[in-house]
Amino acid sequence: MLTLISPSKINLFLQVVGRRPDGYHDLASLFQTVSFFDTLHLSLCKQDELSCTSRYIPIDHTNLVLKAAECFRKHTGLRVGVHAHLVKRIPHRAGLGGGSSNAATTLWGLNQLCGKPATEEQLMLWATELGSDVPFFLSKGTSYCTGRGEKIRPIPLKYSQKLWIVKPNRGLSTPKVFSQVDLNLLQNRNPENSLHRFQTGIFDCYNDLETAAYKVYPKLLDLKTTLLNAGFSSVSMTGSGSAFFCLGDVQPPKIPKTRCFECSFITREEGWYESEK
Ligand code: C5P
Repeated sequence: MLTLISPSKINLFLQVVGRRPDGYHDLASLFQTVSFFDTLHLSLCKQDELSCTSRYIPIDHTNLVLKAAECFRKHTGLRVGVHAHLVKRIPHRAGLGGGSSNAATTLWGLNQLCGKPATEEQLMLWATELGSDVPFFLSKGTSYCTGRGEKIRPIPLKYSQKLWIVKPNRGLSTPKVFSQVDLNLLQNRNPENSLHRFQTGIFDCYNDLETAAYKVYPKLLDLKTTLLNAGFSSVSMTGSGSAFFCLGDVQPPKIPKTRCFECSFITREEGWYESEK
C-alpha cells in the first residue's frame, strides 16, 4: 500500500487573459503547492473501491480519484482496480484544487504501484482530460500555468514562505465565478512581469477572479477587508474562491463561520510530496 500526501495549491497571481470559443478562459497564473493536504492510501485490487473521511465528498464514479483510475486504465490498457481511502482535509469549492490534487496523486500512485508503465510527462498529458488544474499537481510544486491552466512552466522559486488559508463556510462554484468575469474591467497587466517580480522576491499577489466572486458572494469582500485590517501584508483569493491566503507575520482574528489553516509553501524534487508535520 502507498500512503501519499495530496497537497492543496494557491494562485500567487491569477490573470484572466481572455474568453475562449470552447467556453474556458485563457489564464496566466503562478501556482504554488502548500502544506495543507489530504492523505490518500492506495493499493491495487480487482475492482475500484473508494472510502473517504468526509461525508460531503461523493465516493462514486464522479469522484476524481475514481475518474483518475479510469483514465489510467484507458491509457495504459492495464486491467487494475484501485482501493483508495481518502483522508479529507482540503475544503471543496474553495479554489484550493483539492479534487484536482487527489486526481493527480491517484495517477502518480497507480503508476508507482504498477511498476511505472508511464513517464511523468505522459501522466501530465493524461491529466489534462481530468481538469484544467490536474497537470499542475504533477509538477514540482511551483509552476507558471497558461492556456486553461494546463500548460506548465516549472519555476525554481525557493522560498519557504508561511501563510494562512482562510475559508468561509460558504463555497463557490468555479463555472459560476468564471461566468461573472467582465473582461472589460480587468487590469491590463503583463503576467511575465508579475512572474519576474516573484522571482526577485517581490510578492505582489492578485487574482482577476476576485471581482467576479464578490458578485456571486458579496460578503467575501468584507472578509478580505477584515483580514487586511488584521495586519496581513497581502490577502488574495485563491483560484475561483472562496478561500483567501494571507501573508504577513500576524494571526488571523476569530471570524464567525470561517476556518483558518496555517501552512507553508512545499515543493518536491523527485518522488512525491512529503509531510513536514
Ligand atoms: O477544467 P475544470 O473542470 O476544472 O473547469 C471547471 C469549469 O471552470 C469549466 O467548465 C469552466 O466553466 C471554468 N473554467 C474556465 N476557464 C479555465 C478553467 C475553468 O472557464 N481556465
